[in-house]
Amino acid sequence: MTDERGVLVTGGAGFVGATLVRRLTGSGYRVRVLDNYSTGDPAHLAGVDAELIEGDIRDELALASAVGGMQAVVHLAAAGSVIGSIQDPAANFEVNVLGTFRVLDAARTAGVQQVVLASTGGALIGDAEPPVDEQSLPKPISPYGASKLAGEGYAHAFAHAYGLRTVAVRFANVYGPWSERKRGAMNLFFQAIHAGQPIVIYGDGSASRDYIHVDDIANVLQLALERELPGGTVLHAASGVETTVAELAELCSQAAGLPGYPVERLPARQGEVGRNFASYDLASKLLGYTPTVTREQGISSTWQWYREHVFNGS
Ligand SMILES: NC(=O)c1ccc[n+]([C@@H]2O[C@H](COP(=O)([O-])OP(=O)(O)OC[C@H]3O[C@@H](n4cnc5c(N)ncnc54)[C@H](O)[C@@H]3O)[C@@H](O)[C@H]2O)c1
Repeated sequence: MTDERGVLVTGGAGFVGATLVRRLTGSGYRVRVLDNYSTGDPAHLAGVDAELIEGDIRDELALASAVGGMQAVVHLAAAGSVIGSIQDPAANFEVNVLGTFRVLDAARTAGVQQVVLASTGGALIGDAEPPVDEQSLPKPISPYGASKLAGEGYAHAFAHAYGLRTVAVRFANVYGPWSERKRGAMNLFFQAIHAGQPIVIYGDGSASRDYIHVDDIANVLQLALERELPGGTVLHAASGVETTVAELAELCSQAAGLPGYPVERLPARQGEVGRNFASYDLASKLLGYTPTVTREQGISSTWQWYREHVFNGS
């Protein structure tokens, strides 16, 4: 289904936003972006038919003006680094907890019908036997994970107290085009391969993640906007495939045409979960979601994107 609804995308100039905003404008939505460009870049949306507003989600006046005339909000803006949240938990709280509260409150005040929030699977649930799902007990082990759980709590409360239709989508580890400013493993591995440096792995390489292509995340977010779900719904958006860090290093090497590329191991870092992958059964049931990009296809096409857009063809 497509419609002409106005959608505010907070953090729309970031990695996920770059793909989501293209998809929504391509589907006929009127899209407005509110972003302070702290980790995003307006160049990510060059040539895209969306209205860009530079502003901060902690700023109530900026938010009030940005939600005006919008029917829905997709809230992506966040301080997204687990390690950064351990180094400065107060800064993380300000953006992810206070900022998310302000987004929900601005939406409620302006009479916006629906807010879809970006949440997280691994960091929010913490160390648990995978696959995790919506029934897993959240026990975050980083301030970042705790901040996303707090956001889900407010989303649930605003649904019940005010009738705001909120949906929290817990992303697995997202990868794909426009991620060149991220500090995720795949980006760092590609940068290392391109620079001729060894790939650095923290820990013994057995830590695992669930990698989902950004096209599939944009798909889930659009479905969440278009299906009638009860307010306060929480969904995992994942590939359901477990990939260890060591496997990822090899998959990146193969994508670059350099299988067996050298790896250097350093001690594991605090706050990072060990094994993680998620079940997307509920998203399938409620949204008809199923991943469309395989791990091998997605990593290969992402390497090609890096070659063309980040490494200037080399
Ligand atoms: N990328 C992943 O693997 C992943 C996994 C789980 C959850 N998420 C969540 O998805 C969302 C999008 O992540 P991303 O990977 O695109 O990150 P990103 O850092 O590329 O995008 C976040 C955007 O928000 C903007 N922003 C940050 N603070 C802001 C503020 N105070 N006011 C206004 N704008 C602000 C940034 O400039 C950036 O454009 C985040 O909520 C993140 O926590 C991402």
